[in-house]
Amino acid sequence: MIGNILEVISAFAYTLVLSLVNLVKMFLPDSYFYKDIKGENVLITGAGSGIGRLMALKLAKHGGIMVLWDMNTKGNEETAEMIRKAGGKAHTYTVDVSNKEILYKFGEQVRQEVGDITILVNNAGIVSGTPLLETPDNKILKTFEVNVFSHFWAIKFFLPKMIEMKKGHIANVASLAGHSGTHKLVDYCSSKFADVGLDEALRVELFVQGHSDYIKTTCLCPYYISTGMFAGVQSKLIPILEPEYVAERAVSGILTNREVVMVPGWCAILVAIKALCPSEGMMRIAQAFGFNCSMDQFQGRKKKGE
Ligand SMILES: NC(=O)c1ccc[n+]([C@@H]2O[C@H](COP(=O)([O-])OP(=O)(O)OC[C@H]3O[C@@H](n4cnc5c(N)ncnc54)[C@H](O)[C@@H]3O)[C@@H](O)[C@H]2O)c1
Repeated sequence: MIGNILEVISAFAYTLVLSLVNLVKMFLPDSYFYKDIKGENVLITGAGSGIGRLMALKLAKHGGIMVLWDMNTKGNEETAEMIRKAGGKAHTYTVDVSNKEILYKFGEQVRQEVGDITILVNNAGIVSGTPLLETPDNKILKTFEVNVFSHFWAIKFFLPKMIEMKKGHIANVASLAGHSGTHKLVDYCSSKFADVGLDEALRVELFVQGHSDYIKTTCLCPYYISTGMFAGVQSKLIPILEPEYVAERAVSGILTNREVVMVPGWCAILVAIKALCPSEGMMRIAQAFGFNCSMDQFQGRKKKGE
């Protein structure tokens, strides 16, 4: 019993030391701690627009050989062209990541044509933006297939080789919506909560299995970003984020092996308050910040002809 108590105390002491180290690191440029990814094969899903494209451009600048997956062939080719123009390397594949068989087929093709992936960025995502009872069943299913299940299939496909090579990084793009539920986003929020859970449980599993020294994970949790995915959204107090800034924070998080990247960072305080406060009080706080009505004017990406 005494042994157990001592173990708990020493774990808390270790956490305190790590927190102090992280505090000091906050005052130093992230670039001091960047790992070298030159020549590594980096796969990004949803690379044909938004932050997927911007992360791809930045990771290519750091020397990553980019493997771009998107079902939007044109957007994906444009990203590749931008990378090549900047002197980087990119391979494109038109992949619908919501389809497990297709994802595995293209995983195999990438392995044959490019080689083993050591950095996987699960970024592709979609949003319905309607109240739950007005959201058709097939849209709820699709949201989970793209936002969550594709992460599972891609991880299951690429992780075994990372473990064998003792080198790998898996980044999962979730959202602040994965920490806090919101009106008109019931399917989206629950898919992003699942991403946060997947990322955290996987990190624990890698630790317990002894792979955590060489396989790292990063969970990206941004607030609304002006990429077009959430076009029309109104934010009362927190400014809507610039895609360039979010992509920079995400890439920096990957290169420094940061486990969780919240953007803006101070939103971690709101998440902590939520864990401690009565939920009725939290509802009032969310109301005051305007979170609950943020989706009222949501339009999202317009499809051709709309
Ligand atoms: N935009 C925001 O406000 C915001 C906020 C927090 C988190 N996120 C998350 O960031 C990620 C990127 O979002 P974004 O804002 O850049 O959106 P975006 O719409 O610009 O990019 C998403 C990309 O995913 C691709 N995609 C969608 N379904 C696909 C499928 N089945 N197979 C392959 N590719 C597919 C799209 O073609 C598109 O290129 C998403 O996971 C999103 O949920 C976005």
